[in-house]
Amino acid sequence: MKEQPILSVEHLSVSFRVSRRQQVTVVRDVSFDLMPGHILAIVGESGCGKSVTASAITGLLPHGQGKVSGGHIHYKGQDLTSLREKEYRKLRGREIAMIFQDPMTSLNPVQRISVQMSEMICKALHVSRPEALERAAKALGDVGIPNPENRLSAYPFELSGGMIQRVMIAMALAVHPSVLIADEPTTALDVTIQAQVLQLIQDLRDREGMSVMLITHDMGVVAETADDVMVMYAGEQVEYGVCRDIIGDPKHPYTSGLLRSLPRLDVDQDTLYSIEGTVPPPVELPGCRFAERCESCFAPCQNVKPSLAVWDGRQVRCHLYGEVNHHE
Ligand SMILES: Nc1ncnc2c1ncn2[C@@H]1O[C@H](COP(=O)(O)OP(=O)(O)OP(=O)(O)O)[C@@H](O)[C@H]1O
Ligand SMILES: [Mg+2]
Repeated sequence: MKEQPILSVEHLSVSFRVSRRQQVTVVRDVSFDLMPGHILAIVGESGCGKSVTASAITGLLPHGQGKVSGGHIHYKGQDLTSLREKEYRKLRGREIAMIFQDPMTSLNPVQRISVQMSEMICKALHVSRPEALERAAKALGDVGIPNPENRLSAYPFELSGGMIQRVMIAMALAVHPSVLIADEPTTALDVTIQAQVLQLIQDLRDREGMSVMLITHDMGVVAETADDVMVMYAGEQVEYGVCRDIIGDPKHPYTSGLLRSLPRLDVDQDTLYSIEGTVPPPVELPGCRFAERCESCFAPCQNVKPSLAVWDGRQVRCHLYGEVNHHE
């Protein structure tokens, strides 16, 4: 029997209310599966909708502003889009952990790390306070924080940004979640710590079968850690499939551009390539959203919206690769 995804996102759209009468759709018809024990990377430039997708999955879209305006999110078969806040909270604490892009906002600055971590661990794992503190110290050690017992008694405002980021990662991992959603978890960290944290995430995946949705804009991180990858552009998925296939042979011009903008050690590079232009604002466009910036742009691209096609074992949204063919 085919293995079932632990998390399945089907035709997800997310809209924000920007004024009384106006809504904008910032994530549009996105579908992907997170398979058990896999690391799925979501990549794309700033503003592509990566964090909004993560917030939709974890039920954390800003209340009254953002909403899931289409599609479904299934976790272990349960549709999360119809979940009540109380049930969501249970799930978030224990089963689905999230590392936020902006960790400073998710800790209470005037409460000791020990209190915040142990409360969360007690609640999630139903263990005693001393045991929670022990687990907290262990988790801090795991993410490379020296003297974890001492650090526990610190207040967040006493720690550097990189240290806070690691505390957040430790908090997420301490409860041994089934799914980890990590939004740019290593951006604020120096390279050694970054490698250490990515290794830790991979170890947990290997040891405990944790499934990971890793949000990043770094194709180097993707190539090193991910099993599957979904490339997003302006709120849409443009290429999605097995990481090795896509990194080795990208089809969508945007994916190629992201890969070409990676610094390479094996060739002399005087200047680093960058994709010209910027991501368009989230308004309706008749053709392909990438057309303006695309080096392969041809006749239909400005006027006809490309649909998602299956091509060479992956999904790609580009006129270069024909029509949808679900049976390939
Ligand atoms: N609260 C909000 N109200 C209105 N629009 C929003 C809100 N939050 C996000 N957006 C819009 O949604 C779009 C996607 O934003 P998102 O934060 O998901 O991007 P991202 O891919 O995570 O970018 P980055 O790499 O910078 O983190 C952007 O156009 C952004 O302006
Ligand atoms: Mg983001």
